[in-house]
Amino acid sequence: KVYADKDSASKYVADRIANLIATKQVKGERAILGLATGSTPKGVYKELVRLHKDEGLSFANVVTFNLDEYYPMHPIEDQSYVSFMKANLFDHIDVVKSNIHIPDGTLSLEAIEAFCQSYEQKIKDFGGLDLQLLGIGRSGHIGFNEPGSDHRSMTRLVSLDEITRLDAVDDFKGYDKVPTQAITMGIKTIIEAKQVILMALTQRKAQIMHRAIYGEVSKEVPATFLQKLTHVEYILDNQAAELL
Ligand code: GLP
Repeated sequence: KVYADKDSASKYVADRIANLIATKQVKGERAILGLATGSTPKGVYKELVRLHKDEGLSFANVVTFNLDEYYPMHPIEDQSYVSFMKANLFDHIDVVKSNIHIPDGTLSLEAIEAFCQSYEQKIKDFGGLDLQLLGIGRSGHIGFNEPGSDHRSMTRLVSLDEITRLDAVDDFKGYDKVPTQAITMGIKTIIEAKQVILMALTQRKAQIMHRAIYGEVSKEVPATFLQKLTHVEYILDNQAAELL
């Protein structure tokens, strides 16, 4: 779906999420959301906060799993995805703290594998993700599944692509300060969600969206693994759809 601008695209996605939450609420069930960071979903979170404040949308029955976190990364750092999620969403809604899950960037290297397995297990214990929200990196990554990632990959420690690190220079105020690794949900974890929404906004994403949608399915552009799936929606603004 192509929208005229980022606000209308964000509103559509926020409404989808709000409807899922409300539908689950009526049934007395929880909504299990897979959430993303980056500039792309900011408008979605802003609209969800507005729906909470102005229209009484409650997140009391919501459980969240974030896609990824830099490694190493302390939650109190400005660049952590914990800080991002608090600033853009969690601090402004009534989500229960213990229902929030974000990969832990403070673990020792030896502890990461067990953590990743338990992250996968927790998602399963909640019955799987009802909806996974995704952005896309200019490298073609989803989450931090960089080029070379297998379609059967699960939550794990990964090395960041050069393009991804360059795109993060402003956030970290210098290339050398950008972490070289991250913990990310795998491609398998992502595509097992019952519904996947990939958002791409601005002209910066036009080229990679062309490759993601029309390119050969390959590890070189991990987002191409979504092409053949029927439970994936691509939500773009006019600029990101420029080359389609
Ligand atoms: C980071 C995140 C990705 C996100 C990407 C794109 O690398 N780990 O999940 O999709 O950034 O960021 P932006 O939306 O700012 O272009």
